[in-house]
Amino acid sequence: PTANEKYRPQFHFTPQANWMNDPNGMVYYEGEYHLFYQYYPDSTVWGPMHWGHAVSKDLIHWEHLPIALYPDSLGYIYSGSAVIDWENTTGFGSKENPPMVAIYTYHNMEAERAGANNFETQALAYSLDKGRTWKKYKNNPVLPNPELKHFRDPKVIWHEESEQWIMILAAGDRVKFYASKDLKLWSFKSDFMRDTVAQGGGWECPDLFPLKLEGSDITKWIILVSINPGGPNGGSATQYFVGDFDGSSFQPDVDTAKWLDWGMDNYAGVTWSDIPEEDGRRLFIGWMSNWQYAQEVPTESWRSAMTLPRELKLVQEKDDIIIVSNPIKEFNVLKEQHQMDYETLLSGEVPIDIKELDLNSCELNFVFEPQEASQNGHTTAFGLLLRNDEEEELKLGYNMLSKKFFMDRTNVCKAFSNPQYLSLITGDYTIQKQVKMKIIIDASSIEVFVDDGKFVMTNTIFPQDPFNQLSLFSSLGSVKIREAEFFNIKNNKT
Ligand code: FRU
Repeated sequence: PTANEKYRPQFHFTPQANWMNDPNGMVYYEGEYHLFYQYYPDSTVWGPMHWGHAVSKDLIHWEHLPIALYPDSLGYIYSGSAVIDWENTTGFGSKENPPMVAIYTYHNMEAERAGANNFETQALAYSLDKGRTWKKYKNNPVLPNPELKHFRDPKVIWHEESEQWIMILAAGDRVKFYASKDLKLWSFKSDFMRDTVAQGGGWECPDLFPLKLEGSDITKWIILVSINPGGPNGGSATQYFVGDFDGSSFQPDVDTAKWLDWGMDNYAGVTWSDIPEEDGRRLFIGWMSNWQYAQEVPTESWRSAMTLPRELKLVQEKDDIIIVSNPIKEFNVLKEQHQMDYETLLSGEVPIDIKELDLNSCELNFVFEPQEASQNGHTTAFGLLLRNDEEEELKLGYNMLSKKFFMDRTNVCKAFSNPQYLSLITGDYTIQKQVKMKIIIDASSIEVFVDDGKFVMTNTIFPQDPFNQLSLFSSLGSVKIREAEFFNIKNNKT
């Protein structure tokens, strides 16, 4: 990367220049995954929102396309979704050439500044040429505002069982469901709200989808809902509910939400529409930043990246049903096997000979097995240390006493000293006899997937210099490294 490209991820999606936030309108059509995103093309901070646009054949290599939606007299173009209207229920296209329809929020800044309450409305735009050009619907907005300050981020799905379109949207402390036959005329169905795992934050960017429980014939309905502030480590984060949806209202299995990701930098994520049945995966991407400091991070020509695309699955975990997230299998094409080791017993701090491994663009896989009490006592913590020539240190691992995963970025502090960024980030997780860690590092981000995605933590990092030293550590007692496998990751530009 050139000087003003310092921190540019090599295999994550970033805008070519300027400000990006939420992923929007993700839809698959005729061999292409579309990714739209909240975009302000005139600055590296948030401003009048557009929908930026990119397409990919494999979710790994992206082609940037021109801006799809510009703000207009009805407002900024806030977050929303897109669907393929196969049956041409809108009449915007034909059954032979079904329209791609974007359902988004208009945020009318002037009305907001004038003190109105109804400045957020839902609207449509459509494309008949695979998303290359867009027309806004002439009778926008299609869903007027019922005097609610927060009324945004529509996610629309076709609900097979009731043969209608369902919209879930965020309204402050709850989500709302609406139904429609043609995407134009909407009727209110119900509200869903619960005490969340977080206090006081506003709900944003919801998603609603069915997911089969692995190893069963049971299908559950999932609500993803982002919340800001109130994340487990401060600021913005995403939670989910598991339950049932009948085309009208949602019933959760249990009243409390779970965190989709315990890190500080995975927000506003939702899943792709119209993935072909023969594929059948539930594919997710999130915005890899946090509203606490997103507009201040030390990148120069652009701001923010997306997470790696992830596959979400539903699994039974003792008495619980949980979502597991893992990098999509397409990511494997970028991996270059580097090094493998087995069966080392470790205590204290042990430097690893990384040879040609680039610690700033790699995947590290470990199976750790903490040992029974040794003469030093019980193992209290174990994990990894990453260092650079600036004497910065990133520490991550598992604490046996508090039963928490942690990532401490307080000593990765020279380039970015925002107090909310300088944090010890933790998340609750109970390990078994062994624990698997997959750690994916890309210039300014670390994604950790534990035990095949049962626990996930995504954080940004801004080291002054690239990391070039790796150590493993075990405090007090010892830990056995059952497996260690490292990969360099190629960039996705080739
Ligand atoms: C979430 C969000 C959305 C809104 C968008 C505006 O990050 O606040 O609720 O639509 O960003 O850019």
